[in-house]
Amino acid sequence: MGFVFSRRPGAVRPVSWLAAAALILILVGCSGEPYPQSTLHPAADMSGAIDGLYRQIFWWAVVVFVVVQTALVVTVIRFRRRPNQPEPRHVYGNTFAEVAWTLAPAVILVFIAVPTIQTIFRVSGRAAPGALQVEVIGHQWWWEFRYPELGLVTANELHLPQGREVALAITSADVIHSFWAPRLHGKRDALPGRTTRLAFTPDSAGTFLGQCAEFCGESHANMRLRVVVQPAADFEAWAARQAESPAVDSTAALQVAGLEAFRRIRDPGQHTCIACHTIAGVSGGVAGPNLTHVGSRQTIAGGTLPNDSAGLARWLRNAPGEKPGSLMPKIALSDDEVAALVAYLRSRQ
Ligand code: CUA
Repeated sequence: MGFVFSRRPGAVRPVSWLAAAALILILVGCSGEPYPQSTLHPAADMSGAIDGLYRQIFWWAVVVFVVVQTALVVTVIRFRRRPNQPEPRHVYGNTFAEVAWTLAPAVILVFIAVPTIQTIFRVSGRAAPGALQVEVIGHQWWWEFRYPELGLVTANELHLPQGREVALAITSADVIHSFWAPRLHGKRDALPGRTTRLAFTPDSAGTFLGQCAEFCGESHANMRLRVVVQPAADFEAWAARQAESPAVDSTAALQVAGLEAFRRIRDPGQHTCIACHTIAGVSGGVAGPNLTHVGSRQTIAGGTLPNDSAGLARWLRNAPGEKPGSLMPKIALSDDEVAALVAYLRSRQ
């Protein structure tokens, strides 16, 4: 915090105080966010285990800090140089001191190592039989979630039942990503061609934010995710709705026009929606997120835009403008087409 102090010892510039106050306000503001990505507020067994280990080691560190600083301050004051004092006697070697300062850290390290190793094994990702299986696939720059037992595919929003163990099998479709929902578990890399695992039991209902935690290109910061933990009955209801393939409402002209626009094969060289996106019963593209129930999600575009008419329209008009480097290109769409596509996609509940 060197910027707080001026060169003249003791004097502090008012401007520096203001900067420090602003920084504190900003940091305090972070904790006011309804779902902070805070590892200190665990909402699952495994994040609780990691948090418990952190707190244990924190208190060991406090003890070491207090002992060392006390010894330092006492020594500096008590043995400081005084006028007319002769040079103190030199001491070489003290068996008691050397044994003590070797043993004490060794004992502390044992107290840290044992729970650390226990926690490492505990969070290794092994799940009991009967855990809910979910495949997590990192893409530049969004998350795909597949529920093989339920036959569901969704994107960016992972729904989980509260109180049931979940087993995540994590991989990547392109480069290395890292799956991280801090209130539920630690990070786990998503590696192309390999499967890594996480297993945990969420213990509170709520929406927990997460994001890619491994730099993966231009829009790494736009690769966010949400984990929606629901009571078992709500999760079942969600899964049942996701398994349906809702037909378009033939009386809603805008939705019908939107389906047409979604299906429209444009001139050669132009991009089509159906080439990259799946909507059950309509199309089977797999390069982009499955949109069968896109209307039921809270966000779009890797969790960066609200899933409302304005957000969808912004995304359709200029995807790379919203998410730099996006695989979805800027497509020449008329205002009518955008309005129709928005109505159609919003109706995919
Ligand atoms: Cu994916 Cu960073």
